[in-house]
Amino acid sequence: MSTPITPYSASGVATAVGIHDLAIATGSAVLDLAHVAARLGVPHAKYTVGLGQDHMSVLGEDEDIVTMAAAAAKKVIDRHGAGGIRTIVFATETGIDQSKSAGVFVHGLLDLPKQVRVVELKQACYSATAGLQFAASIVARSPKERVLVIASDVARYEIGSGAEATQGAGAVAMLVTADPALIAFEPATGVYTHDIDDFWRPNFSDVAYVDGKLSVSAYIDATVGAWEDYVTHGGAKFGEIDYFCYHQPFTKMVTKAHTKMVAHALGKEAEVDRTQIDPTFTYSRRIGNSYTASMYIGLASLLDQGDDVAGDRIAFVSYGSGSVAELFTGIVQPGYREHLRTAENVATLDSRRELTDAEYLAVAQRKIADVTDYKNAHHTAGPFRFVGVTGAIRKYEATA
Ligand code: CAA
Repeated sequence: MSTPITPYSASGVATAVGIHDLAIATGSAVLDLAHVAARLGVPHAKYTVGLGQDHMSVLGEDEDIVTMAAAAAKKVIDRHGAGGIRTIVFATETGIDQSKSAGVFVHGLLDLPKQVRVVELKQACYSATAGLQFAASIVARSPKERVLVIASDVARYEIGSGAEATQGAGAVAMLVTADPALIAFEPATGVYTHDIDDFWRPNFSDVAYVDGKLSVSAYIDATVGAWEDYVTHGGAKFGEIDYFCYHQPFTKMVTKAHTKMVAHALGKEAEVDRTQIDPTFTYSRRIGNSYTASMYIGLASLLDQGDDVAGDRIAFVSYGSGSVAELFTGIVQPGYREHLRTAENVATLDSRRELTDAEYLAVAQRKIADVTDYKNAHHTAGPFRFVGVTGAIRKYEATA
């Protein structure tokens, strides 16, 4: 049980602000990394132990960041309605248009009121965290407003590369409100930016470019840098933090970063308490990297595990290559378990169709002859599908 440092406040009025609801979505197919290991001739344990990953979600032809985002956001809207939502922030690093926000497609698919501002944010895997900070400021200023923050991404690398096993796909939709049911943010944050070429995706490429080893060290340097800034901005002491929920490109990355964080904060002799990070891994081991969504899928994993963690303090450690990191904390709210989506989340993962390696390669290596005009086969089991492109315009529809 942790004591909040001070409630989030605006204009002298103390108001708890944070995450009221969190829903997840992913691709409707899944690949066991044993298939990738067999094809590339590497030991399966390199992935399950060396990277800490078991499976990766795969999108069907008619799924993308919009269909996943709309599926996650629909769950939130179905439960809470759209009243009070005047802002939608869509965070992604796999954007589908250079101009129009993917959030506007989601707004249309969910038939939301016109009196809403919608915007897309980009800074690699970090931008959903910026979205939450912006949302918290809006709600602190105007506590009756609710902000929908969506993160949705597809992690794609070159087939046959060392990074292939760290692919994945997923979305989260989070409702940020006053008096939240799940997590109340604390005011201190630590931020860190360093211009570095560890990972990027040029406009001409569908897959990310990455300097794998540099990306690992850049992640560690940035997250430790964010911790330092958090400390100088009045954050909690390391020993007052119960859980650490990191960005999860692969779960072993979190173990590496947390080991460095513990040594930095408590000294080289200090032992890493795995119970502070392991509960955040369950869903990511099965989904793979979901870039902007991954840290918040880690939060769903932590909250859904059996123990009651009400009152505990979680440090969120967000990293986006290129690079920007932010560390902030939140307190798990009393009664949060009544607001979880545990069965729904497990069903979302369990219901994915298992692919053979050949089926996965067919989707991953699909070549589209005319990118301005094509139709997608009906693969999705979700509520929305990406029908195809007509006259260079993306078309979506509800499946039911
Ligand atoms: N049994 C158990 N473990 C084994 C093993 C076996 N048989 N064989 C190898 N391993 C271990 C290795 O010892 C290594 O562990 P350590 O790092 O703890 O030593 C681990 O498996 C991975 O082995 P390699 O380092 O040889 O793997 P690789 O070089 O082929 O690929 C990678 C690793 C560089 C991370 C690559 O997957 C990659 O480039 N991924 C994409 C980049 C990425 O995710 N970076 C993370 C930080 S950047 C970020 O967070 C933003 C983002 O989302 C991308």
